[in-house]
Amino acid sequence: MITCAGVFTGAFGTVGLVLAGRDPERAAIAALLDAARTGSGGALVVRGVAGVGKSALLGDVLATALDLRVLRTSGVESESPLAFAALQRLLWPLRTRIDALPAPQAAALRAAMGETEGEGDRFRAFLGTLSLLADAADEAPLLVVVDDAHWLDDASAAALLFAARRLQAERVALLFAARDGDARQFDAGDLPTIVLGGVTGADTHALLSEHTRTDIDPAARDQLVAGTGGNPLALVELAGVLTADQLTRRAPLPTPLPLTGGVGDPLALVRELKQQEGTGLDVWLCGGGKLAGALLPEIDELVVKNYPVVAGAGIPAFDGAFNPAVFHVAERTAFPSGVTLTHLTRRY
Ligand SMILES: Nc1ncnc2c1ncn2[C@@H]1O[C@H](COP(=O)(O)OP(=O)(O)OP(=O)(O)O)[C@@H](O)[C@H]1O
Ligand SMILES: [Mg+2]
Repeated sequence: MITCAGVFTGAFGTVGLVLAGRDPERAAIAALLDAARTGSGGALVVRGVAGVGKSALLGDVLATALDLRVLRTSGVESESPLAFAALQRLLWPLRTRIDALPAPQAAALRAAMGETEGEGDRFRAFLGTLSLLADAADEAPLLVVVDDAHWLDDASAAALLFAARRLQAERVALLFAARDGDARQFDAGDLPTIVLGGVTGADTHALLSEHTRTDIDPAARDQLVAGTGGNPLALVELAGVLTADQLTRRAPLPTPLPLTGGVGDPLALVRELKQQEGTGLDVWLCGGGKLAGALLPEIDELVVKNYPVVAGAGIPAFDGAFNPAVFHVAERTAFPSGVTLTHLTRRY
């Protein structure tokens, strides 16, 4: 039985994490920051698959940038149709400086940020973005961090790339992180790029030990790396579900490894788990809409909680191709607050 409840997505800050490995990547970013400090601005893109550690690396960088003014934004899947949504969040702390820009740029940027009516001129909004960053950097070197760039709305992506390509004597470092393998891609053209791969060897050991507090057997560790490609998210998840006996090889590791949808083929994994139903274990799905959409053929039950709140367009609970699945209401509970809780069972 697979039950889908409380579908949600979210981003988690990773500031304060002790990174395992990543020395070459940290050195490349440190060089970018040093150059910005001394008046040689530039940009760098960190790419890699889901869970490989892009946000963790950005979080780590922040700890080394205490002397820089940091501006942050990120692509948000539900905001990707909204022109300039991400740029508006990025430039909000600098909005009082817009008045000092040349008038056409200021007008275009205000329109882009939704402060005045009308569409505004995009090219001037892009120029205004560059001018505003350069102006702020006159006061203190600037680190601009853009996470989940694959989800940026097109206008923000274009404005930020426009600025990134023109950084020269400005004390600005622009750092992007973008996921490979997502339906939306961040096309950064010829900007310098680092591709993050899985962690290996001693770094894996450090990462797993941090989460298990167990002295992991090297052969078990190698098996986990082979099964995950060294993906940190997968390793963190495994560290949470494997027993101390399994990690120290007093008991064998399960085959296949109990990975969630972040890695591998989630549908195949769920089918495999359902074969093991004799053990009496149910599978509960708590993931985003894409994972729910991928697993829809195997979902037997839904638990849906409705709130009396209107929030506008949101993230789909089930993302994917049009593929109706019919459920019937097994139980519905209404609470005095207006919340309803509905259990649905699959008909076909
Ligand atoms: N080098 C590392 N050392 C220790 N933990 C790490 C490392 N890299 C990633 N992690 C952990 O792995 C998990 C996934 O990392 P992170 O969120 O940074 O991935 P991501 O590449 O940003 O994924 P996404 O594409 O989904 O945004 C987090 O729990 C993070 O703390
Ligand atoms: Mg991330």
